[in-house]
Amino acid sequence: MEKTIDESKQGERLILEPKVNNTRKLFIESYGCAMNFSDSEIVASILSEQGFNTTQSLEDADLVLVNTCSIRDKAEQTVRKRLEKYNAVKRINPKMKVGVLGCMAERLKTKFLEEEKIVDLVVGPDAYKDLPNLLAEVDEGRDAINVILSKEETYGDIAPVRLNTNGVTAFVSITRGCDNMCTFCVVPFTRGRERSRDPQSIIEEVNDLWNKGYKEITLLGQNVDSYLWYGGGLKKDFIKASDIQKATAVNFAQLLELCAKAQPKMRIRFSTSNPQDLTLDVIETMAKFDNICKHIHLPVQSGSNRILKEMNRLHTREEYFELIDNIRRIIPNCAISQDLIAGFPTETEQDHQDTLSLMDYVKYNFGYMFTYSERPGTLAERKMEDDVPEDTKKRRLAEIVQRQREHSEVRTKEYLDSIVEVLIERQSKKSDAQWSGRTSQNIVAVFPKEHYNIGDLVKVKVTDCTSATLIGVAIEN
Ligand code: SAH
Ligand code: F3S
Repeated sequence: MEKTIDESKQGERLILEPKVNNTRKLFIESYGCAMNFSDSEIVASILSEQGFNTTQSLEDADLVLVNTCSIRDKAEQTVRKRLEKYNAVKRINPKMKVGVLGCMAERLKTKFLEEEKIVDLVVGPDAYKDLPNLLAEVDEGRDAINVILSKEETYGDIAPVRLNTNGVTAFVSITRGCDNMCTFCVVPFTRGRERSRDPQSIIEEVNDLWNKGYKEITLLGQNVDSYLWYGGGLKKDFIKASDIQKATAVNFAQLLELCAKAQPKMRIRFSTSNPQDLTLDVIETMAKFDNICKHIHLPVQSGSNRILKEMNRLHTREEYFELIDNIRRIIPNCAISQDLIAGFPTETEQDHQDTLSLMDYVKYNFGYMFTYSERPGTLAERKMEDDVPEDTKKRRLAEIVQRQREHSEVRTKEYLDSIVEVLIERQSKKSDAQWSGRTSQNIVAVFPKEHYNIGDLVKVKVTDCTSATLIGVAIEN
């Protein structure tokens, strides 16, 4: 029988199928981080109870929702452009309603309604359960807004509608918000305080995904390593918890172990780790279970101690190296990836060189690299001048990207002639005769399809590579 939200017990979070009786059409698209994509699945679920099924066609939609990102100015500009596109469609279909979700909604609040005439609805990341009420207002011709942030909301009881799914990999959100207050980052303002989701509901979701044929999950949080369940509530209030709560609390290493044991054949990934919160017991748990993928995304942002301090990253370059050494000692085959920012305020040429030399030490497998973008309301915006000229930022970024390209090439070459295990996710973009999937280390691998299928875990002999992709042939298990 189909599971609906109303029937679901507290803590359960099963996958919801489209409903046959739904008549209204929802077009929902997401920008930014994986959490936004995951949140959109929760929104689609809430709206499926309101008579909406999703559509891939913007022109057909009764309701258009865009889940937005504020992390850099460019991300916000992309959304503004999309709103122009919706405007054009609305001229043909005037009954279409438009809503903005996510971080831009939270950041801009009522300004959105003032600045963008097309927008009927503004909903922040913690207010999605209020969508039915807000839509009722919109249906009556009024603009509607809810941007209240919550101390408890984790949507642990909502069964996501899996959107654009390959049926093999899925996101499972485990924490919301972030308490770290990196001085450049808008996330603590748009997503609120850090809170963790009940481990029982996480395990139930993992079990349900396995039963539906999924083969890999990624546990999601802005800062997964600070996951802490002691019965609900803010992370910072743990000190006030009772002795029983403290004794039975579940931390991230324990949650990983629970997931790995619940479904020993399910591949488990997690993202994102903050170096200051990634503890040895997490690394040891990763080593202990074959089904926990050997990849850590470990953003460092800068290689300069002075800049790290200005960024309020609570570790030094030396402590980061120690962590890298520990990862390599405990999990010799672990891939490590980075996020880096070029041109943070006051960054000198020497600071930039420190970033390059840090990269040389780690030799990351891959990374995501950005120029600094000043975000309104952050501590860096209020206290520091955005004083690195744009062309200097761009030149430093280009040097960082070039260095990463060299390191990626070295790293992928290490896999030549070895045998890797690949989970097939989709057809290769370059050839319809090839499958594409990822190794445990999160490296993309392509190989001839032969008799294999999407969702198969296949041993592949690596015969060639580009800087980012392994090329090989499947060998019989
Ligand atoms: N912990 C988060 C980080 C979110 S932001 C996570 O789950 O991924 C992702 C990356 O964007 C950061 O690691 C940082 O490198 C980059 N970033 C954040 N704010 C930025 C800004 N103001 N300018 C440029 N890059 C930024
Ligand atoms: Fe942002 Fe730092 Fe949190 S980058 S999401 S404030 S860990």
